[in-house]
Order: sequence, then C-alpha cells, then structure tokens
Amino acid sequence: MAECRTHDVLILGTGLAGLRAALEVARSLGDRVDIGLVSKVQLMRAHSVCAEGGTAAVLRQDEGDNLDLHAWDTVKGSDFLADQDVVYRFVERSPAEILQLEHWGVPWSRRDDGRILQRDFGGHSFPRATMAADRTGFYEMQCLYDTLQKYRNFTRYDEVFVTAILVADGSFRGITAIDMPSGQFLALRAKALLIATGGAGTLYGFTTYSRSVSGDGLAMAYRIGLALEDMEFIQFHPTGLEPSGILITEGCRGEGGYLRNAEGERFMERYAPGKMELAPRDIISRAMTREIEAGRAFPSDNGLPYLNLDLTHLGAERIHERLPLIRELSMKFVDIDPVKAPIPVRPVAHYSMGGIETDLNGATKVSGVWAAGEVACVSLHGANRLGTNSTAECLVWGGICGSEIVNFLNAGAPLEHLSDELVAREEQRVFTDLLETRGTENPYEIAHTLRFLMDEHMGVYRSREGLLRAMQGVDELRQRFGQVSVSDKGRVYNANLVNVLELDNQLTLAAVAIRSALEREESRGAHARTDFPERDDEGWLKHTLAIHTPEGPSIDYKPVTVSHWQPVERTY
Ligand code: FUM
Repeated sequence: MAECRTHDVLILGTGLAGLRAALEVARSLGDRVDIGLVSKVQLMRAHSVCAEGGTAAVLRQDEGDNLDLHAWDTVKGSDFLADQDVVYRFVERSPAEILQLEHWGVPWSRRDDGRILQRDFGGHSFPRATMAADRTGFYEMQCLYDTLQKYRNFTRYDEVFVTAILVADGSFRGITAIDMPSGQFLALRAKALLIATGGAGTLYGFTTYSRSVSGDGLAMAYRIGLALEDMEFIQFHPTGLEPSGILITEGCRGEGGYLRNAEGERFMERYAPGKMELAPRDIISRAMTREIEAGRAFPSDNGLPYLNLDLTHLGAERIHERLPLIRELSMKFVDIDPVKAPIPVRPVAHYSMGGIETDLNGATKVSGVWAAGEVACVSLHGANRLGTNSTAECLVWGGICGSEIVNFLNAGAPLEHLSDELVAREEQRVFTDLLETRGTENPYEIAHTLRFLMDEHMGVYRSREGLLRAMQGVDELRQRFGQVSVSDKGRVYNANLVNVLELDNQLTLAAVAIRSALEREESRGAHARTDFPERDDEGWLKHTLAIHTPEGPSIDYKPVTVSHWQPVERTY
C-alpha cells in the first residue's frame, strides 16, 4: 500500500536545472511553500556535477563580445534548427545567472586584473566559457545546494526512483516512486511539477554520461502523452577518453590543444580550416570519424581506434591551473600525463538536443507540469548544441521555470485530486507485473544489446539500412523485455528492479530516437545521413515531434521560429 505525502511543488532531478528552480521557488515564497526535491541518487551525485568546461555568457561587451554574436553563434551552431526567439531569451538572461552565482559564491577562475576569466570553446566567436578551472559543474552544484540550505521549505527525497507521473483530465495530480532504501512505494501529490531529470545518453555504450542518467523523465513524460521533440539529434562530443568514454573537456582545445591523427597531422585543417579544433562538435566528430574510417587512427589494444588530443605544447603551468581534473583523469585512467604525452580520444555520446516539448517558459502541454535543462526541448540547441550552452540553459530555464511555478502558485493553483485507483494501478505494474514475474530474459543482456545497436547504427553517421536494423533490433528487445526476470525479489535497495524499470524507459526512448532519425532524410547538425548527405531546408527545416501510441511513436512536425537569420551555408 502506497504511503501518500503532499507538497506544493515537486522537482524531479537535483542537477543544475532542478536546484536552480528549487532556489527560485524557495527564495520567492519562503515559508509559504513546501517543496519536494526528488532524486534517484544522492542529491549532489546528479550528473551536472560532471560538467567540466564552463558556462556560456556574454560578460565582456567592453572587450568586443555582444548578445547578437552569442545568438548568431548558437543559431549557426544549431545548423539553423534552433528557435531564434528562444536563443535571444537565452543570451539575454545568461549573464545575470553568472553574476547571481558569483554572489552566491561560485569561485570563478579569474584573470590577473581580477575580472572573471572566460575561455574559448567550439563554435563561439568570442571567449565566453565562464569557468571554475575544469570542475565548473561541481562548483555550480555545490554553490546552489549550499545556498538552498538557507531555506527550510524543502524536503529531500534522495535515492527515490520515480515510476510514473500521474495526470487526469489534462492536469497534474502527483507522482509515484520507490523509496529505494526502504522499498516503500510512495505517492507524492503536488500542485506543480518540474521535470529536470537530464538526457538519455546511457542508451549508448561509449558515453560521457553517468550510468544513472537513463532518460526516466523523458520516458514518463512521453507515456503521459507529451511529445518528445527532435530526439534524433544526439550529440557526439569529440573527445571521449579511450576506452572508458570519460569526458575530456573541450576546454582542452579552448586552451589551445590540438587534435592529431596517426600521421601526426592536425587533420581539422581539412574540415574546418578557419576554426580548426574550435569548430562545433558535430563538425569535429564527423571529421574524426572520417579520419578513423580512412585508417589514419591509432589502433587500440582494448577498445576501438582513436586519435590524439595533444596538450604537450601548453606547458605544465597552464595545465595545472586550467585543466587539473583532465590531468588527474588521464593519469588515473590511462596512465598518461598530458603534460608529457597526448591523450587518446574518440567521439562519444554526450548530450540529447531533443527532449520534452515546452514553450518559451518551459511549460508543457499538461497543466501544472514544466520541464527544464537537458530533459526539455525548449528548442535552444536545434540540431547541434554549442559547448557551455548547456549548463547556462539549466541555470536560465531553471530560474524561468522556478518563477513560472511561483506565479502559478500565487495565482491560487489548486491541489488536484489524486485517485487511489491511479496509484494502485502503478503499484500493481511495478510490484506485481514486474517484480513478481518469473521471466527468463536477463535485463542486463538486453541492455547490453541495446547499447551495441545504438553505438553501431545511431552514431555520428547513420543510414536507412542501419536505422532499419536498429529499429528491428529494438523491436526484438522489446519482445524479449516482455519475458524479463527481476531476480532480486526483495524490496530493500532493489537495484535490480530499478534497472529493469530504467531499461523499460531506455527501450522506449531508443525506439523514439531511431524512428525520428529514420524519418529525417537529410543531414543536419548531429544527424548525419550517409544516404542523404546534404542539409535540405526546403523539406526539413522543421522540428520532429514523436507522440506515444500503443503501436509505437507517431511522428509529426512543427515549424522552426526564424525571427532573425535565414539559413545559410555553414562553413567554419
Ligand atoms: O567539454 C566540455 O567541457 C563539455 C561542455 C558541454 O557539454 O557544454
């Protein structure tokens, strides 16, 4: 029997977007609000803590940067699929977020003259990556959480795995969740919900994501009828550490690092002579894949062929000061000191440009539900995100959604009735249909095959043939999932049960991403089709919307907002 609790607001996910929103609500409403902060991990272990390189903002207009330039870089970087009204809202708001975090206590790296230091990043025409060495996400998270401690109006639900969002008559009612330490099933009611649960990158084997990021918020939103937008656009970051996939920040190239092939060439000369290693990620990842396919990569004993990221010319002092985490990771994981030798890297799944369709304010089509950060698709990044625009997006739309929720509560939002039947049905699905089932299929084998299919056919380059194979493979895995076995039958800390629920979500999202990719017969940003190598603005300057049906995703489209710049050829 579920234990029922009530709050005014529930925030799912305690990464940057979730914490920023929580702070906005907490500081605006004080004792007049009761917030439930729900995380499947311990609060500070949210994946945002892994963000390394920086947060984009225009801070130095006096030295030549400006908002139009940041907007243009973002739109061009997006391969013209970003909604330009959204981009403007973003660039206008991100500087204030940096200053707000400065006041709350983030120890930004500094220049000798005392101003906040900003470094170069791919696709930006001015150094605007605001950084705390190469541990930016950690310091931002720590600062937001520390600041939240000033308030007493929130309850932490750590290690609480949410199984469903409950909606009736088009409005939000509550969520159901498993309190992992006790195994207790919870029904949490509230007037408003913010989904801030991150992306879906663990669909891949070679990924920078923490294993905990399994796209649960995306899948739950999809199941309640919310459209998932632009899910074919999955970003490959050029420099995943071989063979683990750990992120080696683009800040390395921002500091002046080179990419070299096995012939010692700085091969970006062939693909983006103007920007070289600071071209956007889609362009560099395509270039690296071509170099690897052309046989100009290094063979690996325990992984796949790789290229080199060479920092040796930067000098020990710069690496120690600006890239200490990268040095530590290289030394610990591949026994290489980047001061002395290059780091082995290859493109790695890193970010979902797509997500839950929202409006400019982060509101979804279900009354009382908002989405912010990577889980959302407010349409800021289009087909390819620029590095450092993600942490900035989390802060900006965490703040926006927080204040939208404050307005909603101030306007007298009601606590809608949550029916026992809805809760009981979900409890039955989790604890009877799944936990008590005696199936024969091993969920970890299904997950392994899923990752293989995604790595193989939904990578930097795709083709109709490969996508059809991936889709057929996922259909077969979905059939096998029907016979899945949860071997741990206990309730306390049943990670096995949670992994099966995660796998269910991942299979759903893989089907959505593959189907969206199959339909889009062009190459744009992170979606590169070998059979349709050109961008096609006539046919495809539009957003994909995937909508849940019992037979699988139904695909629709909506226009891109082009308020300032028509698409032009994208060269760097
Ligand atoms: O390379 C990085 O530090 C990643 C940054 C980002 O994805 O924005």
